Amino acid sequence: MQRRPLPTTYRIKSFGCQMNVYDGERMGELLASQGLTPAAEGEDAELVVLNTCHIRERAAEKVYSDIGRLLKTDGPAPMIAVAGCVAQAEGEEIMARAPGVGIVVGPQAYHRLPDLIAQATQGVRATDTDMPADAKFAALPRRRRSAPSAFLTVQEGCDKFCTYCVVPYTRGAEISRPFADLLAEAQLLVEAGAREITLLGQNVNAWSGADKAGRVLGLDGLIRHLARVDGLERIRYTTSHPNDVTDGLIAAHADVPKLMPYLHLPVQSGSDRVLRAMNRSHTAEAYLRLLERFRAARPDIALSGDFIVGFPGETEAEFVETLQLVETAGYAHAFSFKYSPRPGTPAATMDAQVAPEMMDERLQRLQATIARGQLAFNQATVGRRCAVLVERRGKLPGQWLGKSPWLQSVWFDADATIGDLVMVDLAQAGPNSLEGRVLETLAA
Ligand code: SAH
Ligand code: SF4
Ligand code: F3S
Repeated sequence: MQRRPLPTTYRIKSFGCQMNVYDGERMGELLASQGLTPAAEGEDAELVVLNTCHIRERAAEKVYSDIGRLLKTDGPAPMIAVAGCVAQAEGEEIMARAPGVGIVVGPQAYHRLPDLIAQATQGVRATDTDMPADAKFAALPRRRRSAPSAFLTVQEGCDKFCTYCVVPYTRGAEISRPFADLLAEAQLLVEAGAREITLLGQNVNAWSGADKAGRVLGLDGLIRHLARVDGLERIRYTTSHPNDVTDGLIAAHADVPKLMPYLHLPVQSGSDRVLRAMNRSHTAEAYLRLLERFRAARPDIALSGDFIVGFPGETEAEFVETLQLVETAGYAHAFSFKYSPRPGTPAATMDAQVAPEMMDERLQRLQATIARGQLAFNQATVGRRCAVLVERRGKLPGQWLGKSPWLQSVWFDADATIGDLVMVDLAQAGPNSLEGRVLETLAA
């Protein structure tokens, strides 16, 4: 590697989950605090951060094709930093395979980017994949700007070790950020323009902390405190794990009006044998009972889940149990994936890996079932009156797009602006969005 001047412009590309989006925003703020500016649309950046995801094979492979593309330039090659979960899992391999990469930085170490950039300018390729619990947040600059809908990471890491999953290895053990820090960051986000905050964690409902008086709080306690922040209108959280659901969290859906009626609670499979092999430690029945309890607390709650098809050994009958669970649950929305063997996970070396064609076929059937449920949910909301948080302009002049309380995309014509909460009647439903008719705008 050659010495090079300090980069003055940057671009960050985030892949994967919302936690990576949050990390990408924080890295941007950090670089800006060092005097770098974001590269303009269409212009090359002097520093490119690839904030990567390792959850499935295809996501991980993207890194190498992106690096190749960045280096195939007529002008000077950018400084390339690989961040995120692929950096954590395959840092050494990236350094060996991609000599054009100057920096590898893991998800718990990105507060050290300025040092790593300084090293790279000296011609030293720099790697930092340390996992100090919680150190990075204290080292990051204060938050100053926010979209109306903001993310706030409250919990990181995972101790569950589902047999297919890389997250416990890439993000480390479960940690909860301190209550006081979260309250302060939420306050800053609201001052910076946020009206909705989505609390994030790989197992967000495993969050625990203590208030000023030393009382122990769970996620529901955090939500109740955040609900008192003036100017914060909506609270959401994702992703939850069935084993960490508490009575308090369910109750919060009944009695915290700012907590939106939406729950993303992955189950992965409808077969108890597959769930055991996945190390999920809940049965399909126990999961469905949980959903019922959330519904009892908040009857209109929109439910969402994650599914994996083709886990090693999954039979047709076991897959049909998944389809049945989807029908019974009545999801508003769900994510579904083909099983992807991840290096180092127990499932990758299990017998009876399912053939790719069979996975394709099952995924199609599952997605058709999920899509039917999604359309039915959207249709059932037609006629409801609700507030929509305006997030961006639509395609046509005068058209705006935002989210309903149930996280549906709603478009409507009105004199509005980004950040408004607009009262609409939901008038027409499609599979992926609804049309709203505007009643009034609640002042921003
Ligand atoms: N912590 C969250 C999810 C994190 S990963 C939870 O447990 O619910 C997001 C989703 O990716 C998972 O819910 C799972 O459905 C999917 N996923 C994880 N590892 C996978 C793999 N090896 N192959 C296919 N899908 C996977
Ligand atoms: Fe992965 Fe399971 Fe942890 Fe979710 S709970 S992050 S699927 S190991
Ligand atoms: Fe991907 Fe890491 Fe998130 S593997 S899904 S970016 S925790």
